[in-house]
Amino acid sequence: MTFVGGLRSDLGPAGVLTGADAAPYLTGQRGLFTGEALAVVRPASVDETAAVVRTCASAGVAVVPQGGNTGMSGGAVPAVADRSWAAAALGRSRGEGGVPGDGGADGRHRPVASDRSPGDDGGVVEKPSIVLSMSRMNRIVSVDPDRWTITAEAGATIDAVQQAAAAVNRLFAPDWGARGTATVGGAIATDAGGNNVVRYGNMRDNVLGLEAVLADGRVWNGLRALRKDSSGYDLKHLFIGAEGTLGVVTRAVLRLHPATPHTQSALAAITGLDRLTPLLELATSCCGGDVSAFELIPGVGLERVCERFGLARPLGTSEEFCVLVRLASAEPVSERLGAFLAEASQRGWITDAAVAVTDEQEARLWAIRDELSPMFLWSQHEHGVKLDTAVPIDLFGAYHDEVRSLAADLAPGASTYGFGHVGDGNIHLYVLPTSDDQVAPFLAVREQLQERIDEATFAFGGTLSAEHGIGQLLRDRIRPQKPEIEWDLMRAVKDAFDPQGIMNPHKTLPPA
Ligand code: MLT
Ligand code: ZN
Repeated sequence: MTFVGGLRSDLGPAGVLTGADAAPYLTGQRGLFTGEALAVVRPASVDETAAVVRTCASAGVAVVPQGGNTGMSGGAVPAVADRSWAAAALGRSRGEGGVPGDGGADGRHRPVASDRSPGDDGGVVEKPSIVLSMSRMNRIVSVDPDRWTITAEAGATIDAVQQAAAAVNRLFAPDWGARGTATVGGAIATDAGGNNVVRYGNMRDNVLGLEAVLADGRVWNGLRALRKDSSGYDLKHLFIGAEGTLGVVTRAVLRLHPATPHTQSALAAITGLDRLTPLLELATSCCGGDVSAFELIPGVGLERVCERFGLARPLGTSEEFCVLVRLASAEPVSERLGAFLAEASQRGWITDAAVAVTDEQEARLWAIRDELSPMFLWSQHEHGVKLDTAVPIDLFGAYHDEVRSLAADLAPGASTYGFGHVGDGNIHLYVLPTSDDQVAPFLAVREQLQERIDEATFAFGGTLSAEHGIGQLLRDRIRPQKPEIEWDLMRAVKDAFDPQGIMNPHKTLPPA
């Protein structure tokens, strides 16, 4: 029986997709990365997941875990370089040793992971892959309001967890536009952030325990619900942000917070990026711990989203930037929000504000926020330099100016467009052509511009990967952020967890 045929007989037809059925799982959301795989494998339980990983380990097949496939860095699709396995993958059947295939019989052996150190691929990729989609493991396992936790399978969506929490008067705080598709497992893999990090932290801060299938198929059950536990290394943190390179997260115990039934947001036009730090400080002092989001909205993005959806522009003035602030509490928040806006206006930091007074208006402001990505606004977005940077928040204005001035020098026709989570120092910053005639001149300088911006980001003490992971996109570019000893330590961890190098190879760690 062939390798894929064997998996199909183990998991049934719904558990293994090939051909056109598999195609949507092989391309990442931005369309930047398309990989190849022997099959997309969809286990329905932890035991099935463990059995699949064991089968792959004994056959030397790489495992690429995938959640909702909404990732931005190509971490959840097979690495582009993995294509070199394709000829070999046609050669061998399951159980014969060497490289497995799904038909054909050229009998050639290609080296598999055990032929070299997993952290040191030297750019050579000769392993076939499967995509391990967690989409059938999407159950909420238990809702435990007394413990302030929810236990969910990796394929449960963020939205499903939020709703399950709301049903027991609790809040699951991680939240971003793709909430309906993004999954718990994917969010853990990338240490996702989103709109509420300023108050509740990122995914790392909202996971109390997890379970993972290790690279040899053993199951580690670390589903603990403890707030305090100083009993040695906290291994769950190694899986958070590891992008599936150490094992496959199958279930997690997620932390809940008190519900915040009173929520109100305001969109305010600000008089400059240097106002951000004092505005956040003012919001915090006027509204205490109620500030649950503090997002940067570029004026041009606001215009385009309103145009696209036929919405009236919510503000009377046209500043270059706005902030979208949300207060959330057990008590009504309008007075505090009003006091903050009045004080900000009196100090000349904002020129106009739209306050949502109905649920519909509230939803509309956040719908505008969710549609701000250039991906939805300019067809040329894929040619742009795209950054998911974080810098120390007090340096944010200076950093933005620096990127804009680099862009003006090197790519004068291009637009600098930044939006997102400035309250926690994270911005999605693009430099991109916004018309077809700008594309060719932009592409001529794109690489140089990207290098210069990367250097500037590190010089500001920042990262290129605030919440979208490293994946394939940043694997080489991220290296200068950290001393080599730090990458060496991570490679040693990788070697310890995955000596065969089958877990999501060619992602996350820069090659040695
Ligand atoms: C967002 O905050 O909207 C997302 O992280 C998506 C993006 O960077 O485009
Ligand atoms: Zn974001």
